[in-house]
Amino acid sequence: MSNLAIRQLGPNDERAFRAGLKAWGGEERKWHTFVWTEGMTHEAPLRRLSDDFRGVNLETDRIPHTMLYGFLDGVIVGRCSVRHELNDFLRNFGGHLGYGVAPPFRRKGFGGQLFSAGRLHLKSLGVDRAFMTCGFDNFASRKMIEDAGGIFQDEVVDPSDQSLTRRYWVPL
Ligand SMILES: CC(C)(COP(=O)(O)OP(=O)(O)OC[C@H]1O[C@@H](n2cnc3c(N)ncnc32)[C@H](O)[C@@H]1OP(=O)(O)O)[C@@H](O)C(=O)NCCC(=O)NCCS
Repeated sequence: MSNLAIRQLGPNDERAFRAGLKAWGGEERKWHTFVWTEGMTHEAPLRRLSDDFRGVNLETDRIPHTMLYGFLDGVIVGRCSVRHELNDFLRNFGGHLGYGVAPPFRRKGFGGQLFSAGRLHLKSLGVDRAFMTCGFDNFASRKMIEDAGGIFQDEVVDPSDQSLTRRYWVPL
């Protein structure tokens, strides 16, 4: 299995970032980025990510977070968003870590690597257990959480789309 270089986005990553976006095809842009929209320069999202990481200039209801991207030979294959703390939404439905691997790169172990890096980063911030959620039928995510020792809490209906969500605590 190939090892990813997992790190924050930098000033020299513009081409990789744009190519990474395309790899998601028609899927929601949030899987690649929360902060970039069409027409933005590369500097704008970098500034936002840096602010979010440091917890400055946060929009209402936003909490500090670190966005880690997984690079394979310079190509972005996925990302893991590490939330430094939980707000009301995250405490119920979002969780501490949110990861995604672009469709062409799935089932090669990259999701697992991003999840591991996210857990390590969260631990380095002083968090001792990660609150994790996944869709009832998201078997890949469910397996990753359970393989990491996730302790099942319960299942709830996410009111935003009526989907069944499983909730866990993963010791770090
Ligand atoms: C969930 C996701 C990140 C998994 O990424 P991935 O790179 O394919 O995951 P991995 O290759 O590391 O696989 C992790 C485990 O899940 C298993 N798995 C992967 N896809 C699977 C599938 N469709 N059905 C069942 N098991 C699956 C793998 O076999 C592996 O188990 P193993 O370690 O025993 O071999 C990816 O499918 C994705 O981005 N989905 C869309 C976004 C998403 O749902 N994110 C999670 C939100 S909770």
